[in-house]
Amino acid sequence: MRNENSMEHEQQRKEDLTPEQMLKVIFEYTAKIANERSLTRVLKHMANMGRDMILSDRCSVWLIDPATDELYTTVAHGVEGIRIPKNAGLVGHAVQTGMPVFIDNAYTNAEFREMLDKGAVAVDQRTGYRTKAMLVVPFRNNEGVTIGAYQAINKLTDAQVFSPQDLQYLELAASYAGKSLESVMLHQEIEETQKEIIYTMGEIGESRSKETGNHVKRVAEYSYLIAKRLGIPDEECELLKIASPMHDIGKVAIPDSILKKPGKLTDEEFDIMKTHTTIGYGLLKNSSRRILKTAAIVAYEHHEKWNGKGYPLGLQGTEIHIFGRITAIADVFDALASDRVYKKAWELDRILQLFQEEREQHFDPEVVDAFMDCLPEIIQIRDQYQDKMHTE
Ligand code: C2E
Ligand code: SIN
Ligand code: SIN
Ligand code: SIN
Ligand code: FE
Ligand code: FE
Repeated sequence: MRNENSMEHEQQRKEDLTPEQMLKVIFEYTAKIANERSLTRVLKHMANMGRDMILSDRCSVWLIDPATDELYTTVAHGVEGIRIPKNAGLVGHAVQTGMPVFIDNAYTNAEFREMLDKGAVAVDQRTGYRTKAMLVVPFRNNEGVTIGAYQAINKLTDAQVFSPQDLQYLELAASYAGKSLESVMLHQEIEETQKEIIYTMGEIGESRSKETGNHVKRVAEYSYLIAKRLGIPDEECELLKIASPMHDIGKVAIPDSILKKPGKLTDEEFDIMKTHTTIGYGLLKNSSRRILKTAAIVAYEHHEKWNGKGYPLGLQGTEIHIFGRITAIADVFDALASDRVYKKAWELDRILQLFQEEREQHFDPEVVDAFMDCLPEIIQIRDQYQDKMHTE
């Protein structure tokens, strides 16, 4: 029974958890996970939670990387983080079919042997570990898309095989993982995205738009509030909040003589100004990151109008992405409520009157209604993130 290379060689055979112990394990880990922002640590807690729940020797949480069509894990008990093709091995099989895999003797199971040269067994050969029993349970995000899988290897009880009850418990852990991981991944991505943007901006030259800082912060917060009010799923609201500040990124390419002109623009100047939408789109559209893809949409469509008279494409009604329709009103509200080099701030009443006039003209009527419904919070944000008292 002893195998010097196995992680289990010093472990005592164990008893399955009582329901009380099970609850304790689940509560401990979910509390830890709720406080984590690092994807690597969340994955580690999740792997450990699965392992402790069903007394497996090893447990890994795999995620699909849509950019490379690979499955990856940053933690796998006993092995370094690894990447495998999305269709490789039993994990690949489970995520492709959306069905769990239940194996009680890996080396005599025909289906498993077929995959011997791939996935988990390749790892066995590298590490000298011997896979006997295995459970793989795919999990989905809040939209029902499969985003990864739980994999448990080798049972530490006398039975040495997983039971149907283990499968149910791992499914419980998997459903929790699916619900939690997407938002963690999103937060993880913020930092990388910011680096990418800074780099992109650096390529064009330093940012010259004066409307950074608090303007960008307010537009993000307004957009988020309106999106929530419209009943858009949380994760998409978060996405919009991160992406909407980039709506005017194309202004970095607009000459100072136009961007900072104290007076009204001529028609020619305004034609140049309008290109900030297509320029921003061009800068962001090629990224594979969801945040930057969303930002590309917002940069492109935030000056479109519900009545089709906006720019650059003249899209109409719901042809305009909902994120474009939301950012449009958030941006105009902030532009009007603030001093600009070319105008003084407007009184709130005057802004609200314009919004009523522009309901179904410039703006989506439902978005205007959502804006009105959260006006108290919007005013709170405006007051909280005030500009300093100068325009240059
Ligand atoms: P911005 O300052 O961020 O303004 C965003 C949008 O808010 C404007 O998009 C417009 O829809 C609305 N807005 C801003 N100020 C006013 C206003 O006084 N009256 C009304 N009714 N709406 C207002 P728009 O018009 O497509 O302009 C895009 C950008 O072009 C502006 O962004 C600003 O950077 C620049 N811009 C527009 N007009 C002028 C101008 O007369 N002088 C200068 N220097 N820049 C201008
Ligand atoms: C831990 O509990 O995280 C260390 C043990 C392991 O990863 O197998
Ligand atoms: C990941 O979450 O690591 C891959 C997805 C991405 O880079 O957008
Ligand atoms: C939503 O989930 O309602 C916004 C996304 C979209 O319009 O495609
Ligand atoms: Fe703009
Ligand atoms: Fe703006």
